[in-house]
Amino acid sequence: EKGGYPDFMLKEIFEQPRVVRDTLVGRLAPTGELDIDELGLTYEQLDVIDRVYVIACGTSYHAGLIAKNLIEGWARIPCEVEAASEFRYRNPIITPSTLVVAVSQSGETADTLAAIRDARIKGAKVFGITNVVGSPVARESDGVIYTKANKEIAVASTKSFIGQVVSLTLLALLLGQVKGKLTTAQVRMLFHELGDTAEQIQWVLDTQKEAVHEAALACKDARSALFVGRGMGAAISNEGALKLKEISYLHAEAYAAGEMKHGPIALIDPGFPVIAVATKSPTYDKTVSNLKECEARGARIIAVATEGDEDIRKVADHVIYVPAVRDALSAITATVPLQLLAREVAILRGCDVDQPRNLAKSVTVE
Ligand code: F6R
Repeated sequence: EKGGYPDFMLKEIFEQPRVVRDTLVGRLAPTGELDIDELGLTYEQLDVIDRVYVIACGTSYHAGLIAKNLIEGWARIPCEVEAASEFRYRNPIITPSTLVVAVSQSGETADTLAAIRDARIKGAKVFGITNVVGSPVARESDGVIYTKANKEIAVASTKSFIGQVVSLTLLALLLGQVKGKLTTAQVRMLFHELGDTAEQIQWVLDTQKEAVHEAALACKDARSALFVGRGMGAAISNEGALKLKEISYLHAEAYAAGEMKHGPIALIDPGFPVIAVATKSPTYDKTVSNLKECEARGARIIAVATEGDEDIRKVADHVIYVPAVRDALSAITATVPLQLLAREVAILRGCDVDQPRNLAKSVTVE
């Protein structure tokens, strides 16, 4: 049932191009309008939305960090991302024009469900993004997008995350269109570029195996690792750090690269691994400057960089490439090397990548 792969995690990582395609099937009508049939909300209801909360836990929360950039960037609606366990126990500002987007692979995470229920009582519209048809999150939301990842067996979420990011990107496009901030032509173009990430992921899977292995060797004996980036890179650094710690038991932390000099740079001594998302983006030069500061203190730098960027080798000891892609869509491709790296480090450290200790696939108690 592992389809020839040594573990479910690798099998599921390799399914990601399909997940992108399946999540997008039938979503763009010939008119250029987005078609989300289970939307459950009319365009009029969406048009009044003036605040968005994305609530989720763990990896799903990290998908929310990406969504914030897209929803604010494309639809110009203020968006906050919050751990469901925090959201449910405070008194967030919710009005009938608030949209709560609940993201949950399993669709049954206790805190996420409790947050949905609370938000609805307070009058919010709730939109679910889940992988499980008919799950509590799907049933208790006004509308839903299914992530089409199919069953995920490895405890560490990979393909579901990609499905979540693709679905949230669709939602951000829809909000941008409804709010009149994106034209139909822009939506169509971005939609097609979103679809192209399927092939871009495939390219990473096909060509970067050796680079991932080299980078993993550089991390495997470390006691701790830092993940850094800016913008989309900062968002997925969180996911890279979570993947690494949950399956390899190596302590890892994510920091926005610009925050390094406000504390974490003190950690760096010779050989300390810094994994940087340094793809071409408006803040690329800034990230490279931060990496130079790490390099000067002896850090061992592993960069996820854009194909063709040879300059990055001046500062990075190891480079894993991803194809060039628009910054807004870069989280999808740049996450894949981080997943592969975490898995490879875990294997080198003799860990069971599919069944990490102390973790359950579905967290139905708080
Ligand atoms: C990490 C992981 C967990 C889940 C979290 C939320 O790899 O799988 O952090 O993302 O428990 O689960 P769902 O998405 O089912 O609500």
